[in-house]
Amino acid sequence: MKVAVLAETRPGEKRVAMVPAEIEALKQYGLEFHLEAGAGVAAGFTDEAFREAGATIVNDLGPLLGDAKFVLKVAPPTMGADGRDEVSPLPAGSILISFLAPADNLDLIRSLASGNVTAMGMELVPRITRAQKMDALSSQATVAGYEAVLLGATNMVKFLPMFMTAAGTIRPGKTLVLGAGVAGLQAIATAKRLGSTVEAFDVRPAVKEQVESLGAKFVEAEMDESAEDEGGYAKARSEDQAAEDQALIAAHIHDADLVVTTAQIPGRKAPVLITQEMVESMAPGSVIIDLAASTGGNCPLTRPDERVEHNGVVILGPTNLPSMLPLHASQMYARNVRELVAEMFDKESKEFNLDMENDVLGPTTITHGGQVVHEPTKEKLGS
Ligand code: NAI
Repeated sequence: MKVAVLAETRPGEKRVAMVPAEIEALKQYGLEFHLEAGAGVAAGFTDEAFREAGATIVNDLGPLLGDAKFVLKVAPPTMGADGRDEVSPLPAGSILISFLAPADNLDLIRSLASGNVTAMGMELVPRITRAQKMDALSSQATVAGYEAVLLGATNMVKFLPMFMTAAGTIRPGKTLVLGAGVAGLQAIATAKRLGSTVEAFDVRPAVKEQVESLGAKFVEAEMDESAEDEGGYAKARSEDQAAEDQALIAAHIHDADLVVTTAQIPGRKAPVLITQEMVESMAPGSVIIDLAASTGGNCPLTRPDERVEHNGVVILGPTNLPSMLPLHASQMYARNVRELVAEMFDKESKEFNLDMENDVLGPTTITHGGQVVHEPTKEKLGS
């Protein structure tokens, strides 16, 4: 079976969907890897390294995709209007594995279904214990949380660590993290490693212990167990609760040097946690890194991928932080992909067996057998 690994063409995207080490691990299933020339270079993986791992390097998309069973990507494939056409050459019956953002790419999903491509969206891997090794949202959010603090640190007018020098004592900076999920916890850990004092706020009581175990102070909202759904995700807040949350954040944000904000509720617009008034209460030279920029931002002043300065406070809304550390982001993503591909093979016989009843493969699949099978996407297409 042939696996095609495409080069990423989205501007600024440096990751690659497969790395040489994971190719080695997948050979037991008799897979043959074909890589688009130069696909890994921006992430630090040369064609030579892929060749040594047994991959064939191919220059053109046609021969690369022709008779491919698996097609691997990071960003959704482009359809011609927004770049080259990566969709029409996909063979019928092939399995595309990529982030697909189905709700935002309905035309793409329609084309994949009509081309009889089985499309699996890496963002749809369920967050269940068994699937943690395939959870690309978590692996990439880990990179983003780390990088967010570094980006903040280099845009501040201050140090984060404490210094005792002949030129005086510098007090440690204060970091406030809003939303302590995967990205938030990594941001807390990174800010602590840099010597900052750290406070964190989240609406889910379950994260208090995790925040404290990282040495940060947990800013407690009026806690209520029903803040969390069965999947462990936060539920949307009522207007009253949101107003209380904002008052609490206001009491802690005014003296923060760095704010990293990561609050999200899956499938919804990001909640507003930082109002313009709160930004105006902060000292000039302090920095807000808004990780939720692509879903509207946790601050209404955030502009995706732009630098906004408001009263001297810098607000950055980077939408692709994992691509700023492309080697490790790719390595982690490729591991997630490898585990998902391995899920389609029998552990004993190593035979290919695409089972849609599988509790990971089923929920991850958006199109299959010429149909859209992912219910929320189907509903959106219907409406
Ligand atoms: P997650 O679901 O693990 O964490 C989100 C956290 O926000 C949860 O702990 C949740 O309880 C909390 N939350 C929800 N509503 C809240 C509220 N009103 N107040 C306080 N906390 C609230 O998500 P993950 O994986 O950590 O991702 C976080 C965000 O970062 C998402 O918006 C994601 O899209 C974004 N992200 C951005 C990247 C970038 O490059 N900008 C890269 C990766 C993720």
